[in-house]
Amino acid sequence: MKIAVLPGDGIGPEIVAEAVKVLKALDLKFELETAPVGGAAYEAAGHPLPESTLTLAKSADAILFGAVGDWKYDQLDRPLRPEQAILGLRKHLGLFANFRPAICYEQLVGASSLKPELVAGLDILIIRELTGDIYFGQPRGRRSAADGHFPGAEEAFDTMRYTRPEIERIARVAFEAARKRGKKVTSVDKANVLETFQFWKDVVIETHKDYPDVELQHMYVDNAAMQLVKAPKAFDVIVTGNMFGDILSDEASMLTGSIGMLPSASLNDKKQGLYEPSHGSAPDIAGQGVANPLATILSAAMMLRFSLNQPAAADRIEAAVKKVLAQGLRTPDIHSAGTTKVGTVQMGDAVVQALG
Ligand code: NAD
Ligand code: IPM
Ligand code: MN
Repeated sequence: MKIAVLPGDGIGPEIVAEAVKVLKALDLKFELETAPVGGAAYEAAGHPLPESTLTLAKSADAILFGAVGDWKYDQLDRPLRPEQAILGLRKHLGLFANFRPAICYEQLVGASSLKPELVAGLDILIIRELTGDIYFGQPRGRRSAADGHFPGAEEAFDTMRYTRPEIERIARVAFEAARKRGKKVTSVDKANVLETFQFWKDVVIETHKDYPDVELQHMYVDNAAMQLVKAPKAFDVIVTGNMFGDILSDEASMLTGSIGMLPSASLNDKKQGLYEPSHGSAPDIAGQGVANPLATILSAAMMLRFSLNQPAAADRIEAAVKKVLAQGLRTPDIHSAGTTKVGTVQMGDAVVQALG
């Protein structure tokens, strides 16, 4: 089993090191190969996703990814910015199905910004379409006033776009996932305004005919954002487009206590997957040894389950995470009175210890 390890920027290397430590403690045979990505790769090779890194990612059974991005690269031409690395990996590998489970562990009920009774027992799954939508639609760009396209003004534009096969396959992923859990799918759209999302809704309804055992609900994205903080436990599986899924999953992360707790899996139709925390490179805390590594460690557990066929090892990691939380260990983002504040490395060490 070959795992491509792509730490990236900011806190990426710090949190990935902890996940690698946990993987190595499992007594499974892995080949781990590390490569630069994002700003780190731009510095080393002049490109955020060098050919060698892409080749490694394509040849691996799974990819463990940290995060990319730093404010210092915001002025680069867009194709050279660190974020293009993760977008490129998703597109090149066809990783269209992004699973972002928001689970509130018992020990962290008090860490959420919501009232305990709203989040206790929360277990919802956001399924975000990851290779379409306004993120990838063409054309996109800028026009100067001199083009005369929009008289007297400069303009910038992106294209929101979905094809029928793209919507149908992500809807199937959501219905199949719901079958294995609460049997309810909420499709989040903006059909009241956007043609792209009226089409989304139509195709989801058609696809649903093959899944009569699963309940389907439709919700506008603005209402969904509100319902997520009003009554999050009313959701089971949420399926939505790339941009709405990006925003709603960051919102949902706070239901679990911290964005440092939200793992993710991005899968293609061959079950090859990229595993990364849902958060970014957190430049504001990078290098301080305080980042929460649990989202990345839990992403490694998802990797074992979805791509490496090692469900028992995945269970072991998840049980170890619950154990360290029960021991009261907390990185600053989830720390509260009566618990023990630890750093990134101590948290990783504690998970390894708890594996038993
Ligand atoms: P961010 O997710 O990096 O950080 C948002 C806030 O959450 C910050 O205050 C940060 O300190 C905190 N945070 C994030 N992860 C944490 C962790 N593990 N432990 C404790 N606190 C944590 O989002 P941002 O600040 O908007 O973006 C920073 C950079 O990351 C940007 O360049 C952005 O493009 C990039 N980004 C990359 C990815 C990715 O690689 N997939 C995802 C999101 C953002
Ligand atoms: C995420 C990030 C990325 C996204 C960025 C860094 C391209 O926010 O993985 O959620 O928008 O998909
Ligand atoms: Mn995001």
